[in-house]
Amino acid sequence: MTIGPAPFSLRQAWTTKSVTETAGRKAPKFSNRHPTDPATWMLPARYGSMETQNHPLLHSLPPGFRAVVIGASGGIGSAICDLLQSRPDIGDLVRLSRSYGDLDLLDEQSIEAAAGTLGDAPINLLICATGVLTIDGRPPEKALRHIDPDTMLKQFQINAVGPALLAKHFLPRLDRHFRSIAAFLSARVGSISDNRLGGWIAYRSAKAALNQIVRTASIEIARTHPAATVVAVHPGTVRTNLSNPYSQGHATITADQAAARILQTLDGVGAEQTGSFLAYDGSQISW
Ligand SMILES: NC(=O)c1ccc[n+]([C@@H]2O[C@H](COP(=O)([O-])OP(=O)(O)OC[C@H]3O[C@@H](n4cnc5c(N)ncnc54)[C@H](OP(=O)(O)O)[C@@H]3O)[C@@H](O)[C@H]2O)c1
Repeated sequence: MTIGPAPFSLRQAWTTKSVTETAGRKAPKFSNRHPTDPATWMLPARYGSMETQNHPLLHSLPPGFRAVVIGASGGIGSAICDLLQSRPDIGDLVRLSRSYGDLDLLDEQSIEAAAGTLGDAPINLLICATGVLTIDGRPPEKALRHIDPDTMLKQFQINAVGPALLAKHFLPRLDRHFRSIAAFLSARVGSISDNRLGGWIAYRSAKAALNQIVRTASIEIARTHPAATVVAVHPGTVRTNLSNPYSQGHATITADQAAARILQTLDGVGAEQTGSFLAYDGSQISW
């Protein structure tokens, strides 16, 4: 199922709110574009299809919106940041990872401290683009005999427990009153029902755990943040340091293309779809 744009009435409500509430936020600098009208903004060709180029990304978020990208140094995270930064009406972009702001998924205090630096302004868009596939030089297992308990535990620490801690400290900071979106980058191989190849047992099962964490968090967050959408997203097979060693023979997309498609999909996902597991193109992935 491909997900369409949000209903206009809701969008209108969010936009109305933003005009009053975003006053005073840092103004974005764009020399050749209207500073606040997303309709004057078009994606450069490197981001992919005409459909994407002509789509004013994230029009469901209010002008001056605040975005937080965790994993901002990664292939997909940095492409998402570049795209968000080029958005004419973004108010605030916070980049986090070990390289940006000393946020380490293996250290809850560092996560709590990074969240604490955000202050009181709510988050409109939260992207968790952290993750690992190779652990300390060890490739993902091809067979049961390759399972190593330390490697498997670290997969779970970084790909499941870490994002759970991000959910704990960052999701309560989503906007409580108006639309907000939180996306955790998962992987299609985390789907149990879609698993026909076997292998990669630690990565697959850590991502399956992440999907359950996202689903469970979405239910709790809906009670306090009824307009929030919290989803797990498969970004596609994307040419990054994480996947390059394993993507030979697979159709791949660039990180720029993945970023554009992910943001376009998130723009169209409403609060009624919170807790979903989606592909970058908006199609639903079975658990
Ligand atoms: N690329 C693909 O084809 C593909 C396919 C399916 C799913 N995914 C998922 O998409 C997400 C992003 O993948 P990517 O390809 O962009 O990977 P990447 O280029 O290797 O980036 C990984 C990001 O995770 C951060 N990270 C790793 N360990 C961390 C830690 N202990 N604490 C804090 N941050 C940490 C890294 O930042 P620092 O090193 O600065 O901390 C980096 O920003 C991952 O969840 C991955 O599983 C990717």
